[in-house]
Parts: sequence; C-alpha cells; structure tokens
Amino acid sequence: MFNVQYSMNLDRGSFASKVGIILATAGSAVGLGNIWRFPVETGSNGGAAFIIIYLACVLILGIPMMTAEFIIGRRTHTNIASAYQQLAPGEPWFLTGYAGMLCVTLILSYYSVVAGWTLKYAVSSALTEMSTVSDTAAYFADFASSTWSPLCYSIIFLLITNLIIERGVEHGIESFSKVLMPVLLLIMGVLVFGALSMPGAKTGVEYLLKPDFSKITADVVLSALGQAFFSLSLAIGCLSTYASYFKDDVNLGQTAASVVSLDTAVAILSGFIIFPAVFSVAGVQPDAGPGLVFITLPNIFNHVFGGLPVLGYIFSLLFYLLLVLAALTSTISMHEEVTAFIYDRYQVSRKRAASVMTIVSIILSVLCCLSIGPLKDFTPFFGMGFFDFFNYLTAKFIMPISGIFLCLFVGWRLKRELVVEEITNKGTLPVPAWVCSLFIFFLRWIAPVIIALIFVNELGWG
Ligand code: TRP
Repeated sequence: MFNVQYSMNLDRGSFASKVGIILATAGSAVGLGNIWRFPVETGSNGGAAFIIIYLACVLILGIPMMTAEFIIGRRTHTNIASAYQQLAPGEPWFLTGYAGMLCVTLILSYYSVVAGWTLKYAVSSALTEMSTVSDTAAYFADFASSTWSPLCYSIIFLLITNLIIERGVEHGIESFSKVLMPVLLLIMGVLVFGALSMPGAKTGVEYLLKPDFSKITADVVLSALGQAFFSLSLAIGCLSTYASYFKDDVNLGQTAASVVSLDTAVAILSGFIIFPAVFSVAGVQPDAGPGLVFITLPNIFNHVFGGLPVLGYIFSLLFYLLLVLAALTSTISMHEEVTAFIYDRYQVSRKRAASVMTIVSIILSVLCCLSIGPLKDFTPFFGMGFFDFFNYLTAKFIMPISGIFLCLFVGWRLKRELVVEEITNKGTLPVPAWVCSLFIFFLRWIAPVIIALIFVNELGWG
C-alpha cells in the first residue's frame, strides 16, 4: 500500500529547479490582486498609511502562513484534500481541503472574467482601437455589460490556462513561469520609468511615500489584511498544491520569504506606475473600483502623450500585456489545485483532469460574466448576482475560515517534530530552535486570533 501511494506520488511530476519554484509560486501570487486590486485599495484607503499596514500584514502573517501551507503540501506530495487525509486520517480536517477547492473554483470563475477584460484591452491596444476611444467610461461600460464579447474573452483565457496546465508541472507551469515572470518584471521596470517621467508624477510619488497616520482606522487595517491574503494566494490550498511538487531539499521558509518579497515588490511597483500616471493628468484622487485600470488609465494613455501618440500606444499595450501575463500565472495556479485533486483521486490523465476543471470553470465564469451584463437584475443571493456573490462568499467567509483552520492544523494538530522536520529539512538546515518555537507559537496563538478579528469585523459584528 505504501509503495502504491509512493509511486503514485512520484508520477505527479515536480518542479525541476529552485528558481522555477520561486518564479512559479510568485507567479501564483502576483496577479490582478497586485496590479488591479492593490492600487484601488491603496487609493480608497488613504495611500501611504495603508501601504505601511499592508507591509506589516504580509511580513507578519504572510511569511509564516505561507510556510505552513508549504509544509502540508511538501510533506504529503499530494493534492490538498488527500494531504489532510494523510496527515490526519479519519478526522474531519479534510473538509478544509474541500472548502479550499470550492473557494478556488469560485474565485477562478470571477477572476477569469476580469482576466478576460485585460485580454480584451491588450487586443484593443494592439489594434490601436484603444487610442481612438474618446469616452473611456462609456467604452468600458458598453463592453463589460454586453453579452458575447466579455464571455468569449474569459473563455479564451480559461482555454489558454488549460493548454499550459495540460503540459504538466515542469514543462507547463514551471517553464511558462520562468519566461513570463522575468518578462513581467521587465515590463514593470519600463512602465515605472515611463510613469515617473510623466509631468506631475511627483504628486503621485508623494501620495505613496508620505503617510498620513490620521487615515488609519480599523477598516483600513482590515482591508490591508484582506488584500494581503488575496494577493499572496493564501489559505485555500493553492500554495500547498504547488508545494506538493517541491523537492525535499527546498528551504520552505526561505522560499516563502522570497515569494512574499517578490509579490510585495510587484504590488508597490504597480503603485509607482499607476499613481504618478493618474496624478500627472488629473491631479485628483484616483477613483476606486475597476474604473482605475479600465477607465482612468486608458484615458491617460490617450491624453498624456498627446504630442507623441506612439508612446501612448506602447504604454497601453505593455500595461495590458503585463496584466494578462500576471493574471495568467494566477489562473494557472487556481486551476492546478483542482486538476491535481481530480487526477490524484480518480487516477485519470492530467489532460482529462484539466478538461473537467476547465469545463466547470467555463460554466461558472459564463454565469459571472452574464451577471454583469444581461443578467444584471438577477440578484438571488442577498441582493447580489453571481460575480459579486462569489467574490463576497470567498473573500469574506471561506478564505478567513480556511486561514484559521490552516493555522490551527499546523500549529496544534501536526506533531511538533513533523513541523520542525519540514522547516529544517530533517535537520539539514541551520534553523535555530527558537525560530521553530516562535513559528509554532505564532500559528497557535497569534495568527488565528488576528484572522478571527478580521472575520468578525468584516461581518460587521466588531
Ligand atoms: N494572488 C493572486 C492575485 O494576486 C490571485 C490568486 C491566485 C489567488 N491563486 C489564489 C487568490 C488563491 C486566493 C487564493 O491576483
């Protein structure tokens, strides 16, 4: 029995190199959360002060919780549901794994809608259609609320995701991330440089660097925590699934620290692209919501380079390409979590498992798309349509609850020796004993309490 399990696990494939591991995992973390959601949250929560709280959250909660997720995956080398079953046989912990898979499926279904929008904007930029739009707000509203176009773009996005997943862990996920992530960083570099040289960029930079501490309220802290979770892909099994492909000599804590740093760097850099650009034209506070990236920015690309439209064209194309690439490495990671479960559990090929997940995601994604367009008035879920409801249910309920269970599981249920073995790679890494103790103490007492506070507060009971 042990052998069967063992050989089955080996067949799953693994990441080949440590750089590949960091880039693939950072690819999961870096996404629309960083480039689309982070600036919006920063804008609506007061700028620099929000960023400071956000940084505290990713460093304090992010690194230990990511390491905890890695432990579950790397220890068992299997999908998230089976991982809980192997580590705590006959106990209901595996339900956390199922909740994680449900959550990631729902996130993927609305995430792919926004990913579809980015694809549409990249295509329109490439075809120069974007640069002829005079009313960008009307353009966005027309597109997002139409029936077929957004639907086709999100389906295409899911099919591209499927193609990469089908190629497997090393030749699909890893090799794509190894190309896409450096390209992404390069594009960011060019855009930051460009944005900073725009007229009036200084106001945007000040907005990001000069904190106004009077703006910090409980709500700002909670938004920062929620953003940290989403941006790091934490708590719902996505990172455990990637860690199930890590080899046994990977340093889990260090990998978590690298991924968290990369993710945070990308979020801050996108702030340095978007705010200088936004302030350069209007000199006003950016608006919140999808409008920032899909309405305000295209307007800027079209106007700020009035004398040199070719620059506007290049900027717009690069920016939306950046969004597409970032979203793609994230949709891959969400898709992989469920694909891994299907092929592990039902012993079908990776290709077949991937197509099942793709079909499910397409159906759900179509519902989300329609709920913004023709089904706008169909709001059966407490007054919300599919898109908003999936977003609400995952971010406000499933993610925080799963996060608490993750901490409790690794902190209390797993044996201390097992946890120490995983962080020190069976004693081969020089991790001091006090670091291990602090890590376990943190997962037992601190992290679950912080998350519980967010949860209660977000529900409006705090
Ligand atoms: N972190 C990604 C982003 O910032 C989104 C994402 C990918 C995600 N996998 C996840 C979010 C798992 C929550 C859970 O865009």
